[in-house]
Amino acid sequence: MRVAVTGGTGFVGSHLVPALLAAGHELRVVGRGVRRGALPDDLALSFGDVQTGEGLEEAFSGAEVVVHLVAVIRERGRRTYAAVNADGTETVVRAARAAGARRLVHLSALGADPDPAFPYLASKWQGEAFVRGGGLEWVIVRSSVIFGPGDGFFRQLARAVRLPQPVIVVPGDGTALFQPIAIADVVRCLVASATDPERSGQTYEIGGPEQVSLETLFRLIASVTEADWLLASPKRFVHVPLELLRPLALLMDALMPNPLVTASQLDLLGRPNITTRDAVVRAFGFSPVPLAGNLEYLRPRHPILDALAEA
Ligand SMILES: NC(=O)c1ccc[n+]([C@@H]2O[C@H](COP(=O)([O-])OP(=O)(O)OC[C@H]3O[C@@H](n4cnc5c(N)ncnc54)[C@H](OP(=O)(O)O)[C@@H]3O)[C@@H](O)[C@H]2O)c1
Repeated sequence: MRVAVTGGTGFVGSHLVPALLAAGHELRVVGRGVRRGALPDDLALSFGDVQTGEGLEEAFSGAEVVVHLVAVIRERGRRTYAAVNADGTETVVRAARAAGARRLVHLSALGADPDPAFPYLASKWQGEAFVRGGGLEWVIVRSSVIFGPGDGFFRQLARAVRLPQPVIVVPGDGTALFQPIAIADVVRCLVASATDPERSGQTYEIGGPEQVSLETLFRLIASVTEADWLLASPKRFVHVPLELLRPLALLMDALMPNPLVTASQLDLLGRPNITTRDAVVRAFGFSPVPLAGNLEYLRPRHPILDALAEA
């Protein structure tokens, strides 16, 4: 099958593209040419920008399925949630239709909702609406937070754990639960969504087998990143209300190229990010892997190499 993937150079794309190639599909990886991510060296990139629409129709030509992965989690200048995640998705849908694609698979996020208090989730919800109304076969996969080599969220938590500090600040009261899912399992769900004709018109929610708090995530990460001091006493964790952390997050966002957290991400940390524990088994027929035993990629390699990767 001929498949075009937008955002193929990003975290999810860098895992999905090799999986689709290995399954024998013909791939068109669409990107702005800013980076190649972890893509195989011999794979050509087709230019396409979802904000301007430039190159998209040409990049999609001949593709039966378009898998749309582009989104921003941090707003920078004109790269706003509305412009990339919402309007960019509408632009992709239009270009896919004009290019003659049959199906569009859209990776969305658990909690996608029109509530403007959570602008990232509202933009994902708006993107979903464009996909459903776009006149193509569609499949929407709403994922919980994803872990695996190259991820953003877990590497940021690992970075926070490794900071030289007497305590770990846990944003919020600790009641919000997350249901992390491994990248390999997300890829299985996306491949099935792209290739199974029976799945048209479905919105799937996916998450891993565990529902855990942020503090539990910190503990699991500490256990693989040699931050044993953290595990010694529960008093090492200090829960701080989100409102008190917001000024610091705003400052980090304004001043740092790679802040630990932005204000918008901070709000998401206080919001549950879960679905049913058996969501993947019921929708896709396999059991996703747990966190335990699968966070080894976060283990520090070398202080200089790790600092460069995080810069
Ligand atoms: N990661 C998670 O935990 C998670 C959880 C739930 C849902 N999701 C969803 O999964 C999808 C993929 O996330 P990810 O973690 O892989 O993100 P990512 O690593 O940040 O990758 C984003 C991709 O979008 C591309 N991109 C950005 N702006 C673009 C533009 N204007 N035109 C064309 N391409 C553009 C980037 O390419 P260049 O910058 O190289 O051009 C990159 O390939 C997103 O829709 C996200 O909402 C992710």
